[in-house]
Amino acid sequence: MSDVHTQLRLHLFALQAAGVEFLPVPPPRTAPSAPRVVAAPTALPTAAIPTTAPTPVSVSAPVPPAVPMVDPLEIRRIALDQLATTVAACARCPELYATRTQTVFGAGPLAPELCFVGEAPGADEDRLGQPFVGAAGQLLTKIITAMGMKREEVYICNTLKCRPPMNRTPSSQECANCREFFDRQLELVRPRFLCCLGAVAAQNVLQSPLRIGQLRGRFHEYQGIPVLCTFHPAYLLRDPSKKKECWDDLKMLLRKMGRPIPGEK
Ligand code: URA
Repeated sequence: MSDVHTQLRLHLFALQAAGVEFLPVPPPRTAPSAPRVVAAPTALPTAAIPTTAPTPVSVSAPVPPAVPMVDPLEIRRIALDQLATTVAACARCPELYATRTQTVFGAGPLAPELCFVGEAPGADEDRLGQPFVGAAGQLLTKIITAMGMKREEVYICNTLKCRPPMNRTPSSQECANCREFFDRQLELVRPRFLCCLGAVAAQNVLQSPLRIGQLRGRFHEYQGIPVLCTFHPAYLLRDPSKKKECWDDLKMLLRKMGRPIPGEK
């Protein structure tokens, strides 16, 4: 798509955001000249106010059909692609910029029922440019399936878009640098529910200093979206005994989403 095309679409998006939902379409040039609006003759009363309304002598010109503007989802998709391009060029965190292979933006459909948010890409994600594709990602896919959903129907992203070297915990400055991108991403993706995986994601999204043990097991809110926090799949791989508590969290989420809980009547 040309840049002019993209700019025009984004302009329409801005109009739409300002409340303009329809644009009139001018009549085709080749059409026979449309009848013009002719004002009804108004024989000026010379004395008293006339008792009958004047008779119109012509019909109004047909109003051009109002057509819906560009598909809002399509506009959001374009804006999201542009955001991903901006993120790919980001150099706000010198160490991450110097050591990453590529940024890992996110994957999945717009307007999903559910969005999973992790911490930051790991080695596999950094190599492939996709979130949660390593061992933790495989467990996440199993979790999504156990919840009765398909991986392709949820959105998956991380609070940070670059891999911290040696998978170290991101610094608070790095988290702050990436926050604007995450906020805009979520604004465009617009999921109905959020599930934060692990302490770093939960603390970042909720701007909370609490530990994951204190944040899990109840609902929070981010920009009006209900948020459930649970353990990170990488932690579950290290300590499988935590899977039961994680499943309890996810059942709570499924109930809130109004979805059936697989295996329960
Ligand atoms: N861990 C995360 O938090 N995110 C990924 O994408 C992969 C592993």
